[in-house]
Amino acid sequence: MRIEDAKILAALPNLGIDRLEGAALSDYTSLGIGGTTDLLLIKRRASIPELVRMLDDAGYPHKFLGGGSNLLIRDGELPWVMLHLVKPEPEVRLEGNFAFVDAAADLGRTVTFCAKNNLGGMEGLIGVPGTIGGALRMNAGAYGIQIGTYVREVELYRAASRSLVTLKGDEIHFEYRHTSFALDDIMLAVKLELPSKPFKEILDGIRICNEKRRSSQPLNQKSAGCIFKNPPGASAGRMLDELGLKGLNVGDARVSDRHANFFVNAGNATAAQMLSLIDTVRERVRQSYGITLEEEVIIWK
Ligand code: EPU
Repeated sequence: MRIEDAKILAALPNLGIDRLEGAALSDYTSLGIGGTTDLLLIKRRASIPELVRMLDDAGYPHKFLGGGSNLLIRDGELPWVMLHLVKPEPEVRLEGNFAFVDAAADLGRTVTFCAKNNLGGMEGLIGVPGTIGGALRMNAGAYGIQIGTYVREVELYRAASRSLVTLKGDEIHFEYRHTSFALDDIMLAVKLELPSKPFKEILDGIRICNEKRRSSQPLNQKSAGCIFKNPPGASAGRMLDELGLKGLNVGDARVSDRHANFFVNAGNATAAQMLSLIDTVRERVRQSYGITLEEEVIIWK
């Protein structure tokens, strides 16, 4: 979708917003899949309420794009405008055991930065791709750790009231890959409380997780991590593997040979191919196990 409203186009520079006309979102997702649309890069988050008001008034649907690492976006010209927050410098500020982190900060870099300052706890998250904001919204987790455990305060843009809101940690519920944030809440910043640990000890934990991840996940291929959530008490990856689905493909969308719950873009996969593969696999699992798997990846159709 292209913005043609002259008033909006004229206002963008004053709001600290750059417009990339007809950006290919395949360049902004870890799957390398996604159609084209105007991408607005927001450099001042205080501008969000005004920007959203203008887009709403002019009838332009919009969505916020984070790190794009857990996202499957449809093909073709998208029927919405994409908004993206630009990282401020510095991304992380420390005060004792508290880390104040911008939502656009890279998750891995944040874990490493805190580790270097002898703040641990998040070792397991080191190889999870994406931003702090994305991790927060999904309550990202790995190797027994989930980010929600450390959250003390979240600043967000609440679309429902078109206002900036700050929530205390105990006002937010974090569950397995699920949070109580409203679907259209946009994460802006978080205050984490992290346990003190010597850097060397954290580094050992990071090394172990990295090793496990390298040996079991296709890290050098384009993917969005795990496609399905694990059903209670079971592993989606193991089920898919048991059904012999590794290597199954629709065009260039393919079930990874390394970890069956990772679907990779082996070349020029389209969203349509990936969605078709997801449906095929879900149906095979339903027939064999009587379980309907839910997607872990976010899908924008
Ligand atoms: N397994 C197989 N074949 C496979 C994949 C897995 O037999 O193709 C077996 C493994 O051998 C293991 C069991 O299934 O015994 C579980 O596998 P793994 O340890 O890889 O964990 P997972 O449950 O598949 C979860 C998260 C991952 C996270 C890892 C590590 C979900 C959906 N997945 O995977 O998160 O990295 O644990 O903690 O919760 C993601 O969220 O995108 C993601 C990849």
